Amino acid sequence: MSSGKPLLVVLGATGTQGGSVLAHFLSLSSSPYALRGVTRSPTSSKAAALAARGVEMVAGDFDDPTSLDTAFKGASAIYSVTDYWNPMADPSQHQKAAAAGQSIGLFIGEYETQQNKNIIDAPAGVDGLERFVFSSLPDTNKLSGGKYTHIFQFDSKGKAEEYGRVTYPKLWEKTSVFYAPFYLENYFGPLGALFRPKLNKSTGSLTLAIAEPLASTPLPWFTAAGDTGELVHALLQVAPGKKLIGIRELLSPRRLAELFAEALKKDIEFVDSNPGPNSGNPGLSKGLLDLVGWCVEFGYDGAKVDKNIVTPENLGVPVALGSVKEWFERQEWEQVLQSD
Ligand SMILES: NC(=O)c1ccc[n+]([C@@H]2O[C@H](COP(=O)([O-])OP(=O)(O)OC[C@H]3O[C@@H](n4cnc5c(N)ncnc54)[C@H](OP(=O)(O)O)[C@@H]3O)[C@@H](O)[C@H]2O)c1
Repeated sequence: MSSGKPLLVVLGATGTQGGSVLAHFLSLSSSPYALRGVTRSPTSSKAAALAARGVEMVAGDFDDPTSLDTAFKGASAIYSVTDYWNPMADPSQHQKAAAAGQSIGLFIGEYETQQNKNIIDAPAGVDGLERFVFSSLPDTNKLSGGKYTHIFQFDSKGKAEEYGRVTYPKLWEKTSVFYAPFYLENYFGPLGALFRPKLNKSTGSLTLAIAEPLASTPLPWFTAAGDTGELVHALLQVAPGKKLIGIRELLSPRRLAELFAEALKKDIEFVDSNPGPNSGNPGLSKGLLDLVGWCVEFGYDGAKVDKNIVTPENLGVPVALGSVKEWFERQEWEQVLQSD
């Protein structure tokens, strides 16, 4: 690069995690890296906005290995993240899953694993690559000995991580793994509806209807848009080989809701919603119930059986993430509470 700085290539540049990585380095008075973002649509408005801030935006598609070879040329460091959820909403993927006789969850999981293999294969051949940061999650099926079989969005990434470690030991010497916790941003969306208290419009107080064991299961939380960049920068500053869970706080949905109520200065009451989360979609419900069981037994990150997991305070460089309550205080909740 003409700046003379080493080049950081960021996948998912227009998305939440990758966007956070770029926003973090753009916010520094002097970024240690020249920045390149990868997107399927370099002319989109998000890509153009990043280009206007000095990011070199290039075309690349996880389904097209040749495009990744080109996108990674000259990289000193790569941040890799793939997208399980948007293909789930794509009707053509549902048709393909039906034609393959697979559940949509498993089908998209296998698709995401293949995308990650394409990504891993490409940097294995990059001359001069010093660091690879791979956004992953644990292979819950394998680690639980087949007890939890429906957490496809975790296993898809964990399987690819294992592929990289076994297939490319030299690349894996330069690799650190990043586990994203539950996004606090989920509190705004449909998944958040499971955790988010509802506003009683006549009394102004909050109620959360939630069942055990979900209500009291400790879950790790962070803001994906706000924290990913700082955490990835920290990983790039320490020796590779780390597996970082990027946690702000470990909180049960019940405690999370209490903090939400404190931030909004509202009263809250809890109602037992037994028989538990039931979306009417058996696949999703099984996945959610497996996820709760997994978190109770193994921890979200599998840290009860994987002793390689580190938290930000044990990384060896200062990481200053704010509190969950602060994040709640900074958001605008009126519209989402009124629309429930
Ligand atoms: N929600 C949670 O609580 C949570 C927790 C932990 C982990 N996660 C994981 O986070 C991942 C999603 O990350 P995110 O939130 O950053 O996603 P996001 O905001 O939805 O963005 C997706 C990004 O991926 C890019 N992308 C998608 N398909 C692509 C392809 N075929 N080729 C190239 N680029 C592609 C998109 O770029 P363009 O459209 O510009 O090409 C976009 O930048 C999921 O896999 C999920 O499992 C989520």
